[in-house]
Amino acid sequence: MPAPAAPAAPGAVGAPLVDTHGRVHRDLRISLTDRCSLRCTYCMPEQGNEWLAKTSILTLDEIERVARVAAADGITTFRLTGGEPLLRTDIVEVVRRLAAISGPDGRPVEIAMTTNGIRLPEVLPALIDAGLARLNISLDTLRRDRFRELTRRDRLDDVLAAIAAASASPLRPLKLNAVAMRDVNDDELVDLVEFAIAHDAQMRFIEQMPLDAGHTWDRARMVTQDEILAALGRRWRLTPVPGRGGAPAARWMLDDGPHSVGVIASVTAPFCGDCDRLRLTADGQLRNCLFSTTEYDLLPVLREGAATARLDSHARSRTEDPAVLERARNGQDEAPEAGVDRMLRACVRGKLPGHAINDPAFLQPARGMNAIGG
Ligand code: 5AD
Ligand code: SF4
Repeated sequence: MPAPAAPAAPGAVGAPLVDTHGRVHRDLRISLTDRCSLRCTYCMPEQGNEWLAKTSILTLDEIERVARVAAADGITTFRLTGGEPLLRTDIVEVVRRLAAISGPDGRPVEIAMTTNGIRLPEVLPALIDAGLARLNISLDTLRRDRFRELTRRDRLDDVLAAIAAASASPLRPLKLNAVAMRDVNDDELVDLVEFAIAHDAQMRFIEQMPLDAGHTWDRARMVTQDEILAALGRRWRLTPVPGRGGAPAARWMLDDGPHSVGVIASVTAPFCGDCDRLRLTADGQLRNCLFSTTEYDLLPVLREGAATARLDSHARSRTEDPAVLERARNGQDEAPEAGVDRMLRACVRGKLPGHAINDPAFLQPARGMNAIGG
């Protein structure tokens, strides 16, 4: 047995990512693309979405480099999101590369994915073989007409096939996510839970958040956690499940179990105090919160960092990170790992105690959910 590594000094590669409020970060959500096969109204406009430039999308190698540093710094779960992560043609290879990473304690990281399910049946065996451990599939309605209206695509059958495939696979717990919306699907909450139970999955309802690219969020149309529980409470006896930890969903046991339902009440019952999540957008921006308006740009450290000593005027004009520029001026080089670590720590240091959705001065982030990652 090798001797255990000495604990890393605070702030060095290998030290945990602790913010100024004492929260230790263990979960990195990696958005692999902002593109999607659906156009859910609460996420994207029908048309006119401005896509990220192809040249700014992180490559497989770049994602792996960030993930290796993050794992060394104590990240234990990578959740792959989008847009729709299955639209990445190298998705199986992304999973394989990330699943091969271990943390400082030698334990492999866990790879999870949030997907709309389209294309899942054909790639699921390869994903599992590559090391995927957990799946969340989005399902807002069981009615075909509603699905078509809500997602602007007639693809309910594909999503149902995906859930059937996931249910038949060994991946557990399998979670199904629905955004609860007034007069859209709020009469289907019990049906969705029963559907999930029939597929050995856990249904989770999400309060609608102001993250749509079209900025059409309306508090009055949001179905609250209390309303969700009231509707489910007419069908089941609900008992709170203790031990939530940093999980966004609070859970309730249905009757005497074993099935449970989760509610993600970001708006009416924020859970920021226990948040252990960071986000990486498809174009290399680190974010410490879904609702943050600040981003920490990894592209310069990934693409220019190792060569800062040789920065030419062209690269310089594209590099805005003052630390990179300072080193370049001093003729110093920085290993890419050190640069990624420095940005991860800057991002964690800048994390606020909570989001301000309920503050009258709340400013919605410029990016929609598809470009942030759920
Ligand atoms: N509010 C709440 N949830 C959202 N999602 C996407 N946009 C929103 C929003 N505005 C959900 C999707 C998916 C997950 C990635 O995030 O339905 O389940
Ligand atoms: Fe696509 Fe998910 Fe956005 Fe729907 S919510 S459009 S499935 S990224």
